[in-house]
Amino acid sequence: MIDYRLLDAQLKALIEDEPDALANAANFVALLYNAIDDINWLGIYVLRGDELVLGPFQGQTACVHIPLGKGVCGTAAETLQTQRVRDVHEFPGHIVCDAASRSEIVVPLKFGDELVGVLDIDSPSLDRFSEADQTGVEMLCRTYSEIAGRNGGFI
Ligand code: SME
Repeated sequence: MIDYRLLDAQLKALIEDEPDALANAANFVALLYNAIDDINWLGIYVLRGDELVLGPFQGQTACVHIPLGKGVCGTAAETLQTQRVRDVHEFPGHIVCDAASRSEIVVPLKFGDELVGVLDIDSPSLDRFSEADQTGVEMLCRTYSEIAGRNGGFI
């Protein structure tokens, strides 16, 4: 069981006093990748115009450009809704980056109401992400976005 409250406190301590947006994004990703078990990829895609572009991540090399509305990431970005996918093979248009991935969660990152990117987490296990994981990861994304917004911007 992951202690998301503790992780949230660790995230705040890690990025609160650091103004560099790129460093904070990189540390956000590294903190979560090492704290969440049974995952093989975790990273940020940044909204650039009408597409998502690969940002800081941990895991295998990944596809760089994802159009809005495409795949799990593009769907989360277009709908502004978290996508929690129990089996990626059943998600129409799922984009394969690491063939080992079986389940996935993608959370939109917002400044206020404005989309700035998404956080994507992949697992090699079927149905890895529970409702509790979704609630926890959404809390971490809100904390990250709020602090990034206060500190002067997203990557
Ligand atoms: N599977 C994602 C693409 C990104 S990778 O998993 C890193 C998708 O369908 O949007």
